[in-house]
Amino acid sequence: MKQVTPLKLAILGSGKGSNARALIEASKQSKLYYETVLLITDIPHAGILRLGEEFQIPAYFFSPGPFKTKFAPEREQELVTLLREAKVDFIALAGFMRVIKEPLLAAFPKRILNIHPSLLPHFPGREAWEQAIDAGARESGCTVHLVDHGIDTGEILGQESVPIFQNDTANTLHLRIQEAEHRLYPCIVNTVAKTLLQKKSHY
Ligand code: GRF
Repeated sequence: MKQVTPLKLAILGSGKGSNARALIEASKQSKLYYETVLLITDIPHAGILRLGEEFQIPAYFFSPGPFKTKFAPEREQELVTLLREAKVDFIALAGFMRVIKEPLLAAFPKRILNIHPSLLPHFPGREAWEQAIDAGARESGCTVHLVDHGIDTGEILGQESVPIFQNDTANTLHLRIQEAEHRLYPCIVNTVAKTLLQKKSHY
């Protein structure tokens, strides 16, 4: 790849951060079109915060306000300010458990990605791996999509399927899906970064 300044990625996550780790490690191991510059979580002491220390990336607990499933509107606006100050170009949700609303969507149009643990449009919402087992599905997988106003409804950018075996439990399936997630997410994030960089160079 020719010498370009990588785009600045912020990762928002609520959990252990294995997808955040995959995104960070991929861009450290080989030169990609993005670099992770900010880690944000809505959960104090979330595992994802430890990645900040490990990889020397600013990582913050960002208090979301009184709601359980979304940011308070003024907090979401403040988050936009924080992301702007860090000169963030685009955002990856990685196990982030809040619905993104207008302030953030409007500030980063078509620049917020999510990874979901099923082959959308099948099994949107929570515990998608459990939904797949309960439905008796023979395969599942993961999907990277753009975030829009709905829940797991945005434009699909990439998918990887995994088989479901007869003796699978929700847990073993989730582990297999996560392995696929860790391959797929860095690949799609890099492709999106490359496309955004190409658009930028046409201005
Ligand atoms: C992943 O399975 C992702 O698909 C879902 O939440 C989980 C987050 O896991 N949205 P991690 O925190 O990245 O390990």
